[in-house]
Amino acid sequence: ATEEENVGNVKRQLAKLFEVSLRTIVPDEPEVEPVVVACAGKFGDYQCNNAMGLWSKIKGKGTDFKGPPSVGQAIMKNLPKSEIIESCSVAGPGFVNVVLSKKWIAKSIQKMLIDGIEKWAPQLQIKRAVVDFSSPNIAKEMHVGHLRSTIIGDTLARTLEFSNVEVLRRNHVGDWGTQFGMLIEFLFEKFPNIEEVNETAIGDLQAFYKASKQRFDDDPAFKERAQQAVVRLQGGEPKYRNAWLKICEISRKEFHRVYERLGVHLEEKGESFYNPYIPGVLKELSDLGLIEESQGARVIFLEGFNIPLIVVKSDGGYNYASTDLTALWYRLNEEKADWIIYVTDVGQQQHFDMFFKAAKRAGWLPTDDALKPKVTHVGFGLVLGEDGKRFRTRSSEVVRLVDLLDEAKDRSKTALLERGKAEEWTEKELDQTAEAVGYSAVKYADLKNNRLTNYTFDFDQMLNDKGNTAVYLLYAHARICSIIRKSGRNIEELKKTGEIVLDHTGERELGLHLLQFSENVEETCTNLLPNVLCEYLYNLSEVFTKKFYSNCQVVGSPEETSRLLLCEATAIVMRKCFNLLGIEPVYKI
Ligand code: ARG
Repeated sequence: ATEEENVGNVKRQLAKLFEVSLRTIVPDEPEVEPVVVACAGKFGDYQCNNAMGLWSKIKGKGTDFKGPPSVGQAIMKNLPKSEIIESCSVAGPGFVNVVLSKKWIAKSIQKMLIDGIEKWAPQLQIKRAVVDFSSPNIAKEMHVGHLRSTIIGDTLARTLEFSNVEVLRRNHVGDWGTQFGMLIEFLFEKFPNIEEVNETAIGDLQAFYKASKQRFDDDPAFKERAQQAVVRLQGGEPKYRNAWLKICEISRKEFHRVYERLGVHLEEKGESFYNPYIPGVLKELSDLGLIEESQGARVIFLEGFNIPLIVVKSDGGYNYASTDLTALWYRLNEEKADWIIYVTDVGQQQHFDMFFKAAKRAGWLPTDDALKPKVTHVGFGLVLGEDGKRFRTRSSEVVRLVDLLDEAKDRSKTALLERGKAEEWTEKELDQTAEAVGYSAVKYADLKNNRLTNYTFDFDQMLNDKGNTAVYLLYAHARICSIIRKSGRNIEELKKTGEIVLDHTGERELGLHLLQFSENVEETCTNLLPNVLCEYLYNLSEVFTKKFYSNCQVVGSPEETSRLLLCEATAIVMRKCFNLLGIEPVYKI
């Protein structure tokens, strides 16, 4: 990447300088990767940790160096001159500490204010990515597991999109399984005239699913018919296909309402989409000698797993694995994605590990995970109730997503009313804010945890206006906006004419943190960890309040212009973080 392309990323810019320096020490090493980390200590802002590693490479080979500290000294001395760096020092076993130039920090922020935050977008070596997320199953209710997938997947997609990756947002809905046999048969029983079927006639699709399952379990004749219905559906008989379409349509509408409320956009390519491609793909795998016969089924044996991957069941039907192998094939060959990301609960890990491995054996994917195209399973933990068990309703039913969202909105509206907003605001403002705050609270409570850990769903906690919550962050942002508004100054004008100065430690600390936006977004993308971005955002608001705002008077001070620009930069970065997390900012509090 060129200089211009990495403007936002401090770590990368420093790494480039260190790379030059490292090469002077080991000119014959083709590649030494500079290791630069942010360190926020009293010795510096960043640190290069290559000295010890280099020493172990060169010692005993007639070098003049006497040990890691002297290698560190040389790394420091050979650094090219740069406006980025104020000063350097070497500590301990050759750590090179860097203090950034506050002039340069100020200049970089000022540039962002003029050019826009997009200039701070990370540059990834990825052109097109598939993010496979949400992916509920037709006729079954979306539950909190799908909520996690939807929220995490949307954030990852947004972050990649911001980083200029073309993202195919895929809803891999479960619309093609044996459950359709019983659903269709049940539908025929209930509605002899299929034209009468619509959402209101069927009512609750989950209840419909349950009733048909009951029928399936209770009546062998029904079961028999249901099994035949699957065959007839898969054989393409119009009557069956039509019924299937109706059921999918109703389900889809329900999913859509949730997506709309969450502001999530997705493109549906369900399991059924890949069905016609399965025979061809399986033939390819079979020709490669990967598929074997085992107990009537067709399977792929994979090293390191104690069960084989079943790709054709003993009854001749396809399954989850045949569909996923085929979808992968399609995404690689037809959609030409170079990174394919799957967001599901960790419980499905083995399924992904297995078909990823099969794809490697088929030569579809490189065996070296560092090479492209890449595939990644983004697993997440469970949502727990306050009793520490899997989140359920009191009658131990699966929690319905829509009910959760309703409650989040209601509770945040109550909080607004308690704060006397009914007098100040119109009903519409109340409603919109309650929605923005309520849904944001649900999203943020999910995203702020490392996705692999289980977390407890707790409305009181997530709607608290103190601590690490969306409510707190939204208020912090609104307060910053009101500081700017109340100053009465024209901020757009100031961006062009004003200058940022970082003489106070509070100003400098805030400036540095703002500048670290880019490397945090990049880490969020590369490691697919939304909590990294949440942590960055929370710290930003803490640094703003505790280090900057409580020590540096803004309005009415001699530094007013510079400090207003810092407020504006903070608000912009916070809003970008909100945007990447799917959170809608509010301006009135
Ligand atoms: N429908 C599945 C479920 O509800 C998730 C599908 C995930 N995507 C995939 N390509 N397997 O658990």
